[in-house]
Amino acid sequence: MGRGSAVVIVVAAGSGSRLGADEPKAFLTIGGRPIVCVAVEEACNCPSIDTVIVVSPPGSEDRMRSVLATVAPGATVVAGGATRQASVRAGLAVTSDAAEVVVVHDAARPFAAPGLFTEVIDRVASGADAAVPVLAIADTVKRIRDGEVVSTERRDDLALAQTPQAFRASLLRDLHERASANDQEVTDDAALFEVAGAHVVTVAGDPFNFKITTALDLAHADALRGGRRG
Ligand code: CTP
Ligand code: MG
Repeated sequence: MGRGSAVVIVVAAGSGSRLGADEPKAFLTIGGRPIVCVAVEEACNCPSIDTVIVVSPPGSEDRMRSVLATVAPGATVVAGGATRQASVRAGLAVTSDAAEVVVVHDAARPFAAPGLFTEVIDRVASGADAAVPVLAIADTVKRIRDGEVVSTERRDDLALAQTPQAFRASLLRDLHERASANDQEVTDDAALFEVAGAHVVTVAGDPFNFKITTALDLAHADALRGGRRG
């Protein structure tokens, strides 16, 4: 599999309910630019990616196209669904059958560097079914029930998953179809591969590649971008 053969699906259709802003999270700005623009620009700077699909909040496709006009004029914009999984499916539906590697990335992680995209793509290009960036957990992790601590988890066995995640395209399509037929709902695509017993490898995640989920995350991201500009 050669370079320049991967498709990226950037899912940006979420409302951002935990952030509580009056517009979809992807359009909120960091360092003066919409989050989705920053995320898509970083993906486009990965030389292994030749096709960009952006999944938009339904009804905001025109706005999404105009927001992306300078960073990714060739991007295909499609409307998302009610869940992240449905939004990935919407992106997959417009992915060419010829694509061998599909990368799925959250717009809510605008600090994923082009090199991280390259790493996960390379792992799939060299034989893995899926590749996921992970971070070690710094805090002690407790299992709790009804307000009481039941046990302390072995931290060495646990990791925090990030996107971009790269996948063998044909398997990603099959597993999404199967999940939808079985009403199986997962919070990332790699989970579908794990359950199916596929070969899912990890690469080192990046602490700067945090997900903007809360108002604090947004303030943090804005400060980082402001710092970069200054
Ligand atoms: N996403 C999506 N379609 C959905 C839900 C989520 O495309 N129906 C995308 C988001 O836009 C985001 C990524 O999936 O880039 C990760 O989701 P999350 O951080 O949970 O974003 P939201 O679902 O928008 O936030 P919240 O859960 O707080 O509502
Ligand atoms: Mg969500």
